[in-house]
Amino acid sequence: MSPPTPSFPEAALCAQGLVKHYGPAAGGVRAVDGLDLVLAPASVLTLLGPNGAGKTTTVEICEGFLRPDAGEVSVLGLDPVADGERLRARIGVMPQGGGAYPGVRAGEMLRLIAACSARPLPVGWLLDVLGLTSCARIPFKRLSGGQRQRLALACAVVGRPELVFLDEPTAGMDPQSRRLVWELIAALRRDGVAVLLTTHLMDEAEALADQVVIIDNGKVVARGTPNQLTARSGEQQLRFRARPGMDLDALARALPSGYQAEEPMAGSYLVRGQMNPKVLSAVTSWCADQGVLADEVRVARRSLEDVFLDLTGRELRS
Ligand SMILES: Nc1ncnc2c1ncn2[C@@H]1O[C@H](COP(=O)(O)OP(=O)(O)OP(=O)(O)O)[C@@H](O)[C@H]1O
Ligand SMILES: [Mg+2]
Repeated sequence: MSPPTPSFPEAALCAQGLVKHYGPAAGGVRAVDGLDLVLAPASVLTLLGPNGAGKTTTVEICEGFLRPDAGEVSVLGLDPVADGERLRARIGVMPQGGGAYPGVRAGEMLRLIAACSARPLPVGWLLDVLGLTSCARIPFKRLSGGQRQRLALACAVVGRPELVFLDEPTAGMDPQSRRLVWELIAALRRDGVAVLLTTHLMDEAEALADQVVIIDNGKVVARGTPNQLTARSGEQQLRFRARPGMDLDALARALPSGYQAEEPMAGSYLVRGQMNPKVLSAVTSWCADQGVLADEVRVARRSLEDVFLDLTGRELRS
């Protein structure tokens, strides 16, 4: 079977109209529901979405591990299912949660995978870059969660792939490891690698993504650069910290009409609306009238997290 003709022939990955449904026996979920993605070469596309939004299902379809019920995928110009064998050598995969034979030593596992590639990265160098040199002789089952994640990333990139799939690569990592991984991803991109990344971390998406695609219930609800997504509404916010439980109605009355005051977390306040010096002064004066020092006062655009929560709701998903 020939691969589908992509609408974006120059794209590293192009998916159109993807649908994946798990039948009644598996809970009757429409996990992916008409999704389109285009990943340019030498760029990072980040999929953001709440738990169960369909990120892993989408990634697994693009990797060729799952067959979509409808839609077309082209990865490096090939069909990931029909051309799976040919594609395998050109892509890197870091699955969510990972896993390996418990007894295999970290260095041994990486060397095994390197031995399967025509032009692997030097294993010692990669272990060093990912801070794994001291773990090289440790069996997989004894590695910490963060060390396993870094090893899985090393396995995904050791074959010098043209495209890597990273499903929550920094989940459970400490801040130092996360920054190491961010540097590696940025370096991959500079070297021309295309990266499809899923994450729950907004700062990760902002730091790495050329394009962010926010999905919910298997559908795209927004897409753009992090800047485009946060600038779209044009809305600004004033944030400050102060004593928890202040009277929000009284604060709103002290402001011109059309401004809303919220306390999204105890002691953390948010005033929505177009900011100007008068509004800023009204807020700080009102706080002063309450005998309260408004701390960490900041006028900013909506954050990516605000955009995400506005689009996908604030309630916890089951
Ligand atoms: N093999 C399966 N059988 C039945 N349902 C499944 C299967 N795999 C995934 N699902 C369901 O499909 C939906 C999407 O799951 P998916 O793993 O793609 O979400 P996700 O966005 O990766 O979530 P998370 O952020 O928690 O990793 C969920 O409702 C999930 O329960
Ligand atoms: Mg997932």
